[in-house]
Amino acid sequence: MTTMRITVDVAAPYDVVIGRGVLDDVDAWLPDTAARRAAVVTTAPVEEHHAAAVTAGLRAAGLDVHVRQVPDGEAAKSLDVLGQLYDWLAAIPLARTDLVVGLGGGAVTDLAGFVAATWHRGVPVLQVPTTVLAQVDAAVGGKTGINLAAGKNLVGAFHQPLAVVADTATLDTLPARELRAGMAEVIKCGFIRDPRILDRIERDPAAALDPAGEVLPDLIHRAVAVKAQIVAADTHEHGERALLNYGHTLGHALETLTGYARYRHGEAVGIGMRFAALVSEWSGVADAGLHDRTTAILADVGLPTVCDPVDSDEVFAVMARDKKVRDGLRLVLCERPGVARVAALDRAVLERALARVRHP
Ligand SMILES: NC(=O)c1ccc[n+]([C@@H]2O[C@H](COP(=O)([O-])OP(=O)(O)OC[C@H]3O[C@@H](n4cnc5c(N)ncnc54)[C@H](O)[C@@H]3O)[C@@H](O)[C@H]2O)c1
Ligand SMILES: [Zn+2]
Repeated sequence: MTTMRITVDVAAPYDVVIGRGVLDDVDAWLPDTAARRAAVVTTAPVEEHHAAAVTAGLRAAGLDVHVRQVPDGEAAKSLDVLGQLYDWLAAIPLARTDLVVGLGGGAVTDLAGFVAATWHRGVPVLQVPTTVLAQVDAAVGGKTGINLAAGKNLVGAFHQPLAVVADTATLDTLPARELRAGMAEVIKCGFIRDPRILDRIERDPAAALDPAGEVLPDLIHRAVAVKAQIVAADTHEHGERALLNYGHTLGHALETLTGYARYRHGEAVGIGMRFAALVSEWSGVADAGLHDRTTAILADVGLPTVCDPVDSDEVFAVMARDKKVRDGLRLVLCERPGVARVAALDRAVLERALARVRHP
């Protein structure tokens, strides 16, 4: 199968390598480095299936390899775990020129990226994402972070990786729900920049969800290309990078109000995209049809399109806090598939859209 490569054109450009089996020669994708040791951060489900290939490749590159498991999911992104990782790095000891490797989903790549950003004031990190979400989103673009009791991702740093190696074969072992949730971010990239993503999914949704086929790697490649373009244009999130938040304003609010336990991130974003599509139509930004297309494509890949009952005052309170606005809210809207922009809206149209995506 083909190997695809996208260069993220930031101050220190790096490649995202995508393809089935690319992990088998991870040493080939590792840029020239002075590293002698590698500290691999991973979780149990990922280590079981995918660590052997990575450690073998790093050893083939002449590195002394150390592996450490962190708790699964969001529990990894804590000050406690971070402290344990620092102690581990000190014991190795991991030098200024050595390498951190993040092997896992977005929780691991966020944590490994933040450890790398802060250890010795910044050491190189190789990201090896193993979920669709991490391959198209979390591992690309250099945002890293951990959570506090006061909120998610409150502590973090921008730290671009040395390279990203996204092996689509790792998705063979990914639970179906995680795979579908990651597709929400892929679909998002379709609505904001590359409508061919939508065409390909609509043509054959089953193929789009099959890691062994040709379609899913192509979709991941396209979504990474969208993220890479936007990140290169706005590395530190002052402008265009906001478009990546399409569907996220309501999505984040739903996640917050349900304690991050009810929805996978992508599920909440999918409902948020349906909400944003309605607002886009009702405020005259998009032609009729956007909302129906959004609902249909979410259903095509098995994502929810309706959310549980939520109190709209609570939703608006969280959305307003998220965006620090006074009267109305700024929301990413879609003009037509492939074109998005930020607009200010008043509450009435948002209320109406929320009522429509919410179970009565
Ligand atoms: N930095 C960014 O720009 C950015 C962007 C989006 C999301 N994120 C962060 O990403 C995190 C979510 O990432 P996620 O959705 O990948 O969740 P996750 O990292 O929690 O992974 C989901 C689950 O899948 C398991 N898993 C991962 N790969 C597997 C594989 N190949 N086979 C079997 N099981 C596997 C994990 O162990 C976990 O249980 C959040 O913390 C979010 O804040 C960061
Ligand atoms: Zn997201």
